[in-house]
Amino acid sequence: MLSGKTILLIIAGGVAAFKSLDLIRRLKDQGATVRCVLTKGGEAFVTPLSVSALSEEKVYTDIFSLTDEAEMGHIRLSREADLLLVAPATADIMAKMAAGLAMDLATTTLLATDKPVMVAPAMNVRMWEHAATQANVATLASRGVLFAGPVEGNMACGEYGFGRMSEVSDIVAAVIHQFKDEPEKADRPLTGVRAMVTSGPTHEAIDPVRYIANRSSGKQGHAIAAALAALGAETILISGPTALPDPTGMTIVHVESALEMLAACEAGLPADIVVCAAAVSDWRVASQADQKMKKDGGGPPDLVLTENPDILKTLSAPSPTRPGLMIGFAAETQNVVENARAKIIRKQCDWILANDVSPDSGVFGGDLNTIHFIDADRAEAWPKMSKQDVAARLAAQIVHHVIGDERGGQDGD
Ligand code: CTP
Repeated sequence: MLSGKTILLIIAGGVAAFKSLDLIRRLKDQGATVRCVLTKGGEAFVTPLSVSALSEEKVYTDIFSLTDEAEMGHIRLSREADLLLVAPATADIMAKMAAGLAMDLATTTLLATDKPVMVAPAMNVRMWEHAATQANVATLASRGVLFAGPVEGNMACGEYGFGRMSEVSDIVAAVIHQFKDEPEKADRPLTGVRAMVTSGPTHEAIDPVRYIANRSSGKQGHAIAAALAALGAETILISGPTALPDPTGMTIVHVESALEMLAACEAGLPADIVVCAAAVSDWRVASQADQKMKKDGGGPPDLVLTENPDILKTLSAPSPTRPGLMIGFAAETQNVVENARAKIIRKQCDWILANDVSPDSGVFGGDLNTIHFIDADRAEAWPKMSKQDVAARLAAQIVHHVIGDERGGQDGD
């Protein structure tokens, strides 16, 4: 029932931590990959060795361990999970979550995640009933944190009441329930794939009220992000200023300038696929004025421009974080295919969608696009079609590429 799912299990310091060992086993029985973070308190009840033996994965214990951070930073740890499960969730860790504290690997990971979080509270009945805990429970629930338990029963401390951690089988059932409405993988072939799309123009400030921009509407980039997200890709849309509504089902980062767009892209790595559809301004003003520039009778100012970084080229350069598939656009007004081929080589990307943006093409701001799809060995002329259809056709090529790669890997095994 949990095949293909990765659960990040955070084991906090409570007597019920010993049950977490069984929880790891039961989640794995359901096909899940279980990665564990053990808090300092958790280590008082279970050992990292027993947790790693059961999970068959490395156990993450301390944010300040340089090896852990180098191998898998806390951001990546939470990104690669489908669900973060805190079991046992002590009053202490729930208070830290409610307050947004980032004090150790567990709390930092919980603060950095955009994935569903489930807690299985375990504590003494008085602690559970305390107004502070109840306020924290209400805060967490209002933020969408899911609760498995607690239940009523005898406590390790000899008291009776609410606060016992749910039975392991009930926690596993709650986890399975969380995923039950997910569409079948066949409908979402890009599930597990991380995609990043840049879209729209950039605005390069001259002073606080004026900027240099271009006519990009963002329609093509937004449509591509929507198509990838609909196929199950975990999608980040990095958008320059546009008049478009934010699409749903993805993370959206709004930026203004090329420098901000590059920083957002670098922060979004690692990614499997990047589509650079933004019309990034090639230049920015060398030194922006802090105050609005005034007409002081001395004539118009000389605007000195400096070159912006090329985002597509930067991300396509060979490096350990280079995405597996780098896709760019080439806006051309003449010799579309030859210029696009030269751009693939110059920018070291894998595919280019070249489009004719000559004034009579109506591409900028319009709803239609005429594309030449170009990779290392092909140039395909696509008929004139809507930007949605271009997005769907590109997404289909990406699916073909991803699934083809998976099959290739299996054949070679
Ligand atoms: N691009 C980018 N960062 C830049 C400039 C362009 O990421 N600073 C990306 C665009 O998103 C697009 C591709 O590079 O995917 C090509 O953009 P285009 O404007 O056609 O090419 P330029 O690099 O500007 O080359 P030229 O102006 O010489 O045609």
